[in-house]
Formats: sequence, structure tokens, C-alpha cells
Amino acid sequence: MGTHFDEIAAREARVFLPVVKRLPVAIVEGRGARVRDADGREYVDLTGGWGVTAIGHSHPALVQTIAEQAGRLMQTTNLFYTVPQLDLCERLLGVVPDALTRCFFVSSGAEAMDGALKLAHRATGRTQFVSTTQSFHGRTLGALSIIGQEKHRAPYQRIVQEGCFVPFGDLAAARRAIDANTAAFVVEPVQGEGGVHVAPDGYLHGLRELTREAGALLVLDEIQSGIGRTGKWLALEYSSVVPDVVTLGKGLGGGFPIAAFLCTEDVAKTVSLGDHGGTYAGNPLACAAANTVLRVIEEDGLVARTAELGARVLAHLARFAAAHPTAAARARGRGLLLGMDLLDADAAATLSRRAIDRGVLVNVTAGTVLRLFPALNIPEEDLWPALDAVLELVLA
Ligand SMILES: Cc1ncc(COP(=O)(O)O)c(C=O)c1O
Repeated sequence: MGTHFDEIAAREARVFLPVVKRLPVAIVEGRGARVRDADGREYVDLTGGWGVTAIGHSHPALVQTIAEQAGRLMQTTNLFYTVPQLDLCERLLGVVPDALTRCFFVSSGAEAMDGALKLAHRATGRTQFVSTTQSFHGRTLGALSIIGQEKHRAPYQRIVQEGCFVPFGDLAAARRAIDANTAAFVVEPVQGEGGVHVAPDGYLHGLRELTREAGALLVLDEIQSGIGRTGKWLALEYSSVVPDVVTLGKGLGGGFPIAAFLCTEDVAKTVSLGDHGGTYAGNPLACAAANTVLRVIEEDGLVARTAELGARVLAHLARFAAAHPTAAARARGRGLLLGMDLLDADAAATLSRRAIDRGVLVNVTAGTVLRLFPALNIPEEDLWPALDAVLELVLA
């Protein structure tokens, strides 16, 4: 007998543009760290909806806010002031370094990166960007121009600006690449999609000095690493570097599409009215959702919890890797953005698929890196059994 999934998959095969890979599960609802599929099976979500559901799926406070705001005002235009947007500016600026004084809201991470690139061009008058190999910054043409992953750029090579990429963590290479044409060096403090690589000590500081000397901006892409994910509000706090521009997304809306770019007053002074905009920029529904996400993170102490729980999960992964040196290596990451190399590439390729049968959603990125980025408030009674089921599969 066919399942609801079979029916959904058959319908989709007829109508959906086939540009994304799918796993054979149709998710119909989520609550906390768990989701349920169309055939009633439950899964623990160790992907956090791709690092997005910071306060869990359908957190009651978030659902209530969205319902209330939807009943009040969903949309207006950039011509008018709205209070949810203003509240979000103030709230967000309250948790980032003081030097960042201005925000602008868009709907996705890639758009935030485009905004950041535009700011860098306006502030410097320059046209070249330097970023890192294995980086990921989104899929718009602007963001693609700074993605250090050939597989994403290759299909669009001919319509994307030529980028300059240097190895992540390599300051000498950055020094050689940054010159008088460089508008900005763009970097993730923790590379996410590229394999969970934490910036080595001194790297961001070094980049700060190099960009300042060259009159270029330092843009930190915190779309994956921000909003408490690494056990600090922003991952940049581990190095206390103050960038010129920071981008945020994912966890900011907790599942409601919203992203942001933030900048210093010096950068803000270089833009003019009309330089940027967007039908949904600062959409009141999205801003109200993000305000509630930030409030819940604050009230529930989720940043500190993420640091503490993440350290224990990392230690668990490190013990696993030490006990099984032919299967896994190099547990790493910060907070609840954790990774570990899987040494059997074939087994890694099927791990997410096999985990489904064990009731766990888990991600393998960069081919062979097990990545964990669950909800910041994932209950431990969900987390540990799901993680151990995945680790068993690594050995199977
Ligand atoms: C570091 C980073 N930057 C940018 C993006 C793009 O965000 P979006 O998919 O919302 O456009 C992502 C998405 O995974 C990301 O991890």
C-alpha cells in the first residue's frame, strides 16, 4: 500500500523544479526539537531546520506573536515607519558590539550578503572582494561571487563576478590578496557549510588589521554562527574583533524568513537614500517574529545554555573520535555548531538517509563532515539518544 509520502513525492515529481536534493521524508509538523512526517513518524531534528529553529519548532511564544501581528499588520512599504522594525533594530543593536550602530532587514541570508557587498562598495568605492575557500554565503548572483565552493559557482561562472579566494585561516594568503582594489574581506567566523571550521586564534584580528591598513572593510558573515548558535550572541565575541559589517539570518527569525545586515556609523555615513530597499525589507510580521525569538533566547538564557551544552556534546564527540580512530576524527566547533570528520566517505554519503530509519534528522556537510546544529533549547532527553543513534550508524 502506498504511503502519504509516496503520493506527495509522486505529485512533486510532476511539478517541482528539480534543483534540490531530497531525502525521502515529507515533514508536516514540528514542535520543539521534534518533527513529524506525513505518515505519522517522529524524528529528532539535529539540523534545527538548517540552523534556523533557534528556539525550537513552533515555539508557543513565536506562534502567538505571529498570530497577533498577522491580525494587526502584516505588510506595509518602506515608505512608512513601523514599530516592530524599530524594536528589532534596538534589540539587535543591544546584543552586538557597540560599534555596530545601524541595521537593515531583508528576507534571506543571501540578500543580506548582497546588502553587505553593496555597503562595502559604497563605503570604499572599490569593486573587488576577497573571501575564503570552502566558504558559503548564499545563492544570489552577488553572494555567489564570494562563495569559495566551485560546485556552486561553476554553473553560473559566466554571469558572476570573478572572485578572489584564499584558504580559510591563512593570514599570509589574505595579506597577499588584499590590495588597493579590495572593497572587503568577507569571512564566516565559523565556516558552516564548508565543514564547521572555527577561525584559528588571531585570524580575525589579523584580518581586521590587514583590512584597516588597506582601507578595505571587514565583513563577518554570521548568518549561521550568530544569534547564540556558538554560545555567544555573535561568534565574533570569541575574538572581540569589531568588523565594519555583520550579516545575520537563520536563527534570527526562528523559522520566519528574515535576515539583517548591520554596520558601523562610519559605513552608514557613506550610503544615500535609495541605495537599497525591498518590498519585504523590514516586514512587520518578520520583525515581530524576530523580536520574540531574541526575547525568548534572552529570557531562557539560551546563549549560556548553548555554550555549556555544546561543550559537553563536543567532549562526547571527541571521546567518540578517540575511541574509534578509523571511523571519526577532529571533533570541533563552538556551542551548538559542531562537526566531526567521518573517515569512511561511502558511509558518510548515506548517513543522513540511514538516520531517518532511526528517527533522526542529521546533516553531513562538505561530503564527510557530520554537522550538528539543533535548536538551542533542544531537550537533553531528545539530544543524547538521537546523537548516540547517529554515532552507532557511523560505526555500522
Ligand atoms: C554562512 C552563511 N551565509 C549565508 C547563507 C545564505 O543564507 P540563505 O540560505 O538564507 O540565503 C548561509 C546559508 O546556509 C550561510 O550558512
